[in-house]
Amino acid sequence: MSQIKCIGILTSGGDAPGMNAAIRAVTRAAIYNGFEVKGIYRGYKGLITGEIAPFKTQNVSNIIQQGGTILKTARCQEFKTAEGRKIAYDTLVKENIDALVVIGGDGTLTGARIFATENNYPIVGLPGTIDNDLYGTDTTIGYDTALNTIMEAVDKIRDTATSHERLFFIEVMGRDAGFLALNGAIATGAEAAIIPEISTEVDQLEELIKNGFRKSKNSSIVLVAESPITGGAMHLAERVQKEYPQYDVRVTILGHIQRGGSPTAHDRILASRMGAAAIDALLEDQRNVMIGIRNNEIEYVPFNKAIKNDKPIDRELLNTLRKLSI
Ligand code: F6P
Repeated sequence: MSQIKCIGILTSGGDAPGMNAAIRAVTRAAIYNGFEVKGIYRGYKGLITGEIAPFKTQNVSNIIQQGGTILKTARCQEFKTAEGRKIAYDTLVKENIDALVVIGGDGTLTGARIFATENNYPIVGLPGTIDNDLYGTDTTIGYDTALNTIMEAVDKIRDTATSHERLFFIEVMGRDAGFLALNGAIATGAEAAIIPEISTEVDQLEELIKNGFRKSKNSSIVLVAESPITGGAMHLAERVQKEYPQYDVRVTILGHIQRGGSPTAHDRILASRMGAAAIDALLEDQRNVMIGIRNNEIEYVPFNKAIKNDKPIDRELLNTLRKLSI
């Protein structure tokens, strides 16, 4: 451990609200513990192009409330190649960076795992993604803010859905996971959530149609998780429109609005705790672990587990949604 003097920090993959709060926490906790810090721009790409700058406490002032990432982000194809990773390693040596803290989702941690193993290099990961699809943490940085953005948008759509007595399919992000759709549906009192985890078992749309959507109301809202497995909102709407012309159907795809905005208190606190914990982990000689928080306790989750273990949907939530949408 004593070998570590300088810590590099980067954000990679899709941005998520709270990433800035995490950058701030890592930087400040590192400096508090006597480390130097360097900010690496544009994710792993910055390790290849050498876009790196020293970070002092004032570099992270006034950012806790900002969405996006001041370090910028990218999905770097070159880092997926052995040649690209060799250049990245040489950059780290040249810059005297002895350990990395990487903030991102599944792709970011996969890259970190490969790089750390190849080079025997200490890396700690923070789960930063709106998708909440990493195993070993109750929530990921950005998920709560995205959920609140979805809630506000759906509340607005409900006004027009009710006035026109329409059926709305609203598509939300999540990559291959249904957390945003399922919890978004509960938070907005929607009729149903069509999510990949369940779509593989039953035709959820067929079930909904059989039940006549919500019988007690003339308008209905269904949240659909983007995914080739669900087919997406547009596809489901077309199916309903063709077979049941009596429904007045509309589609809204919320898109990247879900990734922006000022982080909620939950995400700021999560990012701050996780950022500080990343430095504790390095002080304890931990490497190749993601910081998770489960049942309010910090956990060190080996990269392998965080990435490979599918995080299951809570069936109790699904039942609650079903019970409450009668
Ligand atoms: O992983 C975050 C996420 O927003 C996913 O929900 C979505 O599938 C993907 O990124 C979109 O990526 P991009 O911004 O590259 O289109």
